[in-house]
Formats: sequence, structure tokens, C-alpha cells
Amino acid sequence: MAHRYVGAGRRDAVDRGEGMTTHQEPPGRAGKARGPSEYPDDTDLSTSSREELVRLGSALDQVTIVHRADPFPVPGTRAEKRTERKVARWFIIAALAGLGFLAAYLFWPYQYAPPSTPGDRHFLYQLYTPIIGALLGLSLFATGSGMIAYAKDLLPHETAVQERHTGASSELDRVTTTAILVDSGVSSGIGRRSLIKRTAGIGGAVLGTGVGVLALGGLIRNPWKGGSHAALWVTPWASYNGEPVFLRYDAEQLRLARPEDMDAGSIATVFPYKRSWSEKEAYDAMHASNSPVMLIRLRPDQAAQVVQRKGQASFHYGDFYAYSKICTHLGCPASLYESQDARLLCPCHQSQFDMLEYAKPIFGPATRPLPQLHIAVNDEGYFYAKGDFIEPVGPAFWERKSG
Ligand code: FES
Repeated sequence: MAHRYVGAGRRDAVDRGEGMTTHQEPPGRAGKARGPSEYPDDTDLSTSSREELVRLGSALDQVTIVHRADPFPVPGTRAEKRTERKVARWFIIAALAGLGFLAAYLFWPYQYAPPSTPGDRHFLYQLYTPIIGALLGLSLFATGSGMIAYAKDLLPHETAVQERHTGASSELDRVTTTAILVDSGVSSGIGRRSLIKRTAGIGGAVLGTGVGVLALGGLIRNPWKGGSHAALWVTPWASYNGEPVFLRYDAEQLRLARPEDMDAGSIATVFPYKRSWSEKEAYDAMHASNSPVMLIRLRPDQAAQVVQRKGQASFHYGDFYAYSKICTHLGCPASLYESQDARLLCPCHQSQFDMLEYAKPIFGPATRPLPQLHIAVNDEGYFYAKGDFIEPVGPAFWERKSG
């Protein structure tokens, strides 16, 4: 039964090959309606060899193999071995680069080290990202190159033509398609090329492990570590021992904010700073995602109209108001300030906050006001925070309280 189909399929191929002027419709899946007698029964399917099923599947799919040539028809020749080694070299490079990536990702000193740190720590810290990027890139590149080299040099070169058809797949289609896929694996020769199989396996395993570690590595942290001082509860504006947290500008040289620095209607981005902090602690605080604060000095006529938020009437200092810069929608930095009408615009999705009404959202997708920082001025004339934010910064998380 199966051979009858093969004959039909091949005849079609010959007809097309001889100029494609005549076309005898094979009993293909997309062809004319077929009677039940044209299908092989279960016995035919179970007794057919893989090659027969492949030919049957090709005929049913109206696939015509125009040309097929094995680059190494005689297995085990020196030329074939040489080509195998060439392919294997790529996978070995992929494995070594993948191992290097894993080692660098896990053991390279990635923590920030200021330029003044003795030794090479700062230099090594600067190399961290380029190193892991280059090694992962090399591993991916070598894996891809190995696969391309294998397909180009070792797979049979084949040209096939297939008629397009529509409709759902039948059981017959599934059986024959499976046979075709298995045959592809067998004719690819991967089963007998143990060197390539091993090196590709090692390269793929190492690369896969590296990608897995990369994807999961950042998640293996406990965000609640630190209890009530955990990163999700507090920001660098928190002071645990009464030490003032000053407002500093983003500048190479440390510069603390003072009222006389700003004109009416102006705005400045400031960050937390404690005098007891090391250089690294100050750097980390500057770069924490929940640190940036906008210090706004309202014009006197605007300051007179301000509507204070319940319970936060004392949070400002004269005409100065400090709000988190992190948009409560999705966390973009919101700092496009229109001083004429005291509105703050987030450039990401156009949320607008009314700075005359405790930074309440008045347009766009944000639903919570920007958290306000309680500020004051110390005896030396510098701004400082009288406490941490009293609500979550940015889009926050599911335990937030709506404002
Ligand atoms: S992040 Fe600001 S509006 Fe979406």
C-alpha cells in the first residue's frame, strides 16, 4: 500500500522535472478528496520501514526532492573527519567561553570600588560588564558558527519543492511527519559523529547553564533580608541613629543643597548623603533607584495657593517642597517641570502631577501622588530629611497603600 503512494509521488516528481507542463495530482493531503481505500491501513503503517514512510510522507505532502547529495557518501573518510574537527572546534570554543562566562559571572569582583581603592580593584570592577558580555557573546557566536558549519559542510545538500495546501493534520500525516523528522536526524549523520555530538553537547550544556545562571542569578536574593530595614521598606533617606541625611546635588564634588541655591520657580534633583558614609556608601545611595528627589522652590504667589496633604502639612520648608522623582505609574524619572502652572510631567506616559496639590496626579495613567519627603534646614543652613518617605516610592509593590 505504501509503495503505491511512493509511485504516485515520484511520478509527479518526474512529470514536473520534465518541464512541469503536466501535473498528475498525487494523493496528497491537499489534493482532491480521496476515498478511504487510498489510505494505508494500520498494518501498512506498522510494517513500513522508516524510508518507506519518509517517501510516503513526501508524496502525501506533494514534496518533490529535486536534488539530494550527501557531502560524504562514504562514511569515515579523512576528509569527513577533518570537517568534523572543524565543526567541533567551534563547539569547544563555545564551551570554553561559556565556562569563562560562568566563572566571571560568579567570581569576578563586581562590587563597586572607587578609583582611590588601593590595588586593581577599581580597574577590575570596570572590567566586569565588558568581560561577561564578551564571553557570553563569544559563546553564543561559536555555538551559532558550529551549527552553521555543520549544516553547510555535513548535512546532505537537498533541494525540494512542495505544493502548498491547507487543512488540519490527520493521524496519517502525523505518523509520516514523525518518520520524516526521525529520518532527518538519521541522515544528518549526527548519530555517528560522536566528536561533534560530544562537543556540541558540552558547548550547549555550558551555554545553557550560563544563560540559566544569568537569568536566575539576579533573582536569588531575599528582598526581605534586613527585616524592617529591608530594601523594600526603606530608602537611603532613612536615618537609624538620628544622623541627618542631607540633600546633595549630583556633582563630582560633594555639594549639599541650601535654600539660597535656588531661585523661585526652579527645580533641582537631589540625593541623600550622610557624613558618616564611605565613598562607596555614598555612591550606592546616589545610584539607588528610590533615591532621586526633586527639590522645588515654588514662586511666592504659587506657594500661597498650595493645598497640603493630610498629615503632611509640615513636610515642606517655606516655599521648598521635596518629592520623589520616581513616577508612581511605572517608575520613570518625572522631572519635566512647568513652572508657570507648577505641573510636573512624566515623559514616559504623560502623567501630570499638580505640585500645588501635594503632587497629585491630574492626568495620565499614574494613580498615586508622588511621595513627599519631609525636609528642614539645619543650623549650618543645609537641607536635610527629617525622615524617610512615609509611603512606597515609585510603582511600589502589591502591599502598598493607595494615596
Ligand atoms: S512611568 Fe510615568 S507616566 Fe508611566
